[in-house]
Amino acid sequence: MVSFFRSNVDAMAPYVPGEQPLPGTNIIKLNTNENPYPPSSKAMSVLQRVDSELLRRYPDPYANEFRQAVSDALGVPREWIIVGNGSDEILNVLIRACCDGARKVVYPMPTYVLYRTLSAIQPAEAVEIPYGEDFKLPLEELVAENGAVTLIASPNSPDGHAVPIDDLRSLAGRLSGILAIDEAYVDFAEESALTLLNEFENIILLRTLSKGYSLAGLRLGFGIANPKLLEALFKVKDSYNIDAIACMVGAAAMRDQVYIQECAQKVKSSRTKLALSLKQLGFKVWNSQANFLLVQPLQQAETVYQKLKSRGILVRYFFQPGLDDKLRITVGTDEQNQTLIDKLTDLL
Ligand SMILES: Cc1ncc(COP(=O)(O)O)c(C=O)c1O
Repeated sequence: MVSFFRSNVDAMAPYVPGEQPLPGTNIIKLNTNENPYPPSSKAMSVLQRVDSELLRRYPDPYANEFRQAVSDALGVPREWIIVGNGSDEILNVLIRACCDGARKVVYPMPTYVLYRTLSAIQPAEAVEIPYGEDFKLPLEELVAENGAVTLIASPNSPDGHAVPIDDLRSLAGRLSGILAIDEAYVDFAEESALTLLNEFENIILLRTLSKGYSLAGLRLGFGIANPKLLEALFKVKDSYNIDAIACMVGAAAMRDQVYIQECAQKVKSSRTKLALSLKQLGFKVWNSQANFLLVQPLQQAETVYQKLKSRGILVRYFFQPGLDDKLRITVGTDEQNQTLIDKLTDLL
């Protein structure tokens, strides 16, 4: 039968998101790196102010209220910010704007699987370079490929390591294309690459409200780069990509930095405790600056994943070469983490 679709779409594997049980399901959900704490109450109270006029009209195409809140919180000019329906949308727009069969996407592996999916949809050639021992950045290989876009997640998923700023600086200086630094998990890390934006015209930083701000359901992310770089991305993005409610709620969350820092601090301290408990159970645990831990159990990872699931705890198992003997566990509250440890102790 003749296909309705482009051959690359027929040939590609779909992105498989982590399982999302219905809200209210009695499960401890440690599989998609959501924040265990609720969103800022100041952000939630904005919902009471939503009136019908706000919804009757199209929203602000630039989400300026939210951009201004980001500008105030991070000290970057508003014109340096582009807002997306999750940082996934910014990644999508970036690849659509920059890449095709002759202009490649380059990234180290393993990393966020969506980079491969978005490249396959475009289609753009995706060059995947394995990370070195202990997640050392393959700097020379990345430079040699000189992609139209080089993507580095820092902290990286699924292991949580942060790429040293000096490596990112060196990469940016030696690439002629764009270096996109995906800081989805930066709210739990020691440092950000934000200062590099003043040094290089070819860097875009990607951030999200899905992790540090407990707003994964709102779908709000943003990119920070100089306005010259953003000009092309504004041409490619949907005009009304951010709905009016997301813009208001996101702005209020961004203004509540005290609460965000408080939650991040709790997650970081739980991360340390959880890593220790898992090590005591014989797991190998990678150092993480994110809100999750990559671990390798002594037992078969898939079996541990299944057994935890049947006991009401969801963690992430990747059917992927190099990862199929490991699990990625989101850091929950201390109480959730203790339940995880108790169940693991039982079943191991
Ligand atoms: C490395 C990385 N980047 C980006 C995202 C996407 O975040 P958002 O919810 O803002 O689309 C994720 C989500 O899990 C991620 O792990």
